[in-house]
Amino acid sequence: MITERAVDLTDVDLFVRGEHKEVFDWLRANRPIHWNEGADGNRFWALTTYDDVLWAYANHTDFGSARGAVLGGSFRSEDDTAGGRMLVATDLPRHRLLKQRIQPAMSAAVVRQIADQVRILVDQALDRARVQGGCDFATEVATELPAGALMVVMGIGYQDAHHLIGLTRQMVGFRDEVFVDGGGDEKLRLAWLQAEIFEFFATLVEERRRSPGDDLISLLLRAEVNGRRLTEEEVFYNCMNVAVGGNETSSYTACTGLLALHDHPDQYELLLSRPELIDSAVEEILRWSSTNAYVQRVAKRDVVRGGVTISEGDSVTLWNVSANHDEKQFPDPHVFDVTRRPNRHLSYGAGIHRCVGAPIAQSELSLLLGRVVSSGLRFRTAGEPRRLRSNFILGITRLPVEIV
Ligand code: HEM
Repeated sequence: MITERAVDLTDVDLFVRGEHKEVFDWLRANRPIHWNEGADGNRFWALTTYDDVLWAYANHTDFGSARGAVLGGSFRSEDDTAGGRMLVATDLPRHRLLKQRIQPAMSAAVVRQIADQVRILVDQALDRARVQGGCDFATEVATELPAGALMVVMGIGYQDAHHLIGLTRQMVGFRDEVFVDGGGDEKLRLAWLQAEIFEFFATLVEERRRSPGDDLISLLLRAEVNGRRLTEEEVFYNCMNVAVGGNETSSYTACTGLLALHDHPDQYELLLSRPELIDSAVEEILRWSSTNAYVQRVAKRDVVRGGVTISEGDSVTLWNVSANHDEKQFPDPHVFDVTRRPNRHLSYGAGIHRCVGAPIAQSELSLLLGRVVSSGLRFRTAGEPRRLRSNFILGITRLPVEIV
């Protein structure tokens, strides 16, 4: 039986076993604003209803991002060195200026180029899978989405894109033995990974200083905020934000989506017969997967909500995965329905920090689904899917499938 004392949202196993949905159903009904004493040492408020999560996103003056969007026990330390430098960990007014500088790297023209690149990579990956009679969808198809995006946004080659994906994957999956050998100090491992990622960008920065282009790195090197150029470290942090923000999220969402369609064959048949439903299917996949399970804020002053006082300095987590299954917002929230409308999920967040890469992710996911559907492929799982050990990013790291 679930009791408030027993609920611990830092218990990663809860998410790996898929039991978190039941826990969130209970929290929304019984303790929508929950004080979580984490076994891993993290203490924080958890907002679980759609209304409360949306309210907190909109309330960026009371809830700041400078201490990082991830709980201290996850992949950033509590004294987050990215604060005020990396877009996602920056508050107004600097955040607005920084976002304006980064947005052109994700313009409509760039999204079109990404779609062209991703189409080539996805078609090749699906052809290989067809010839072999199957594949690991997670590592052989889904990772082609961020690969195509990185090639265009950062102006790099295919091998480099996959090298970078390998690094960010280890960072997000720093507790998963698929990506890292067990044991050792987690903080050291993360520091080492960040250094590797920064080194990768350092080489690119050197190249782009010699021959600038219109990619993200060149753009950040030219950018001025408040009359001052970004430091090299700020350039690295923001490249890392785009890489970590885009690599895992879009590919893990694709895997959860494919598995959802596999587990709900009626919905897949519906898509095959009515491909015009692809856009609404993408929205449902985004809601269903809620890949970025939560984001963190820190209260800048005492705030009262729902009879609870959140004190200045408290950590507050906004659980997208719970909001996206709130029965007051989504009728039959545990039903996967590709025709669901309206579908105002919070998977990309909301307010000033809403995902800057959303148009890219949207285009990647509809392209992939479109290619799968138009080729009329039918998949059957050929082994247990493996879930990422994380309560922050909900993903599938291995998805063996055969083509039937
Ligand atoms: C399905 C795919 C994706 C999901 C679910 C997702 C989710 C999110 C969420 C929830 C936030 C808000 C963070 C906060 O409020 O603290 C965010 C921000 C961000 N995302 Fe995404 N994202 C996705 C794809 C991408 C892609 C493809 C890119 C880049 C190519 C990207 C780059 C970023 C960046 C740079 C931010 C920070 C924006 C800001 O602070 O203003 N994301 N994302």
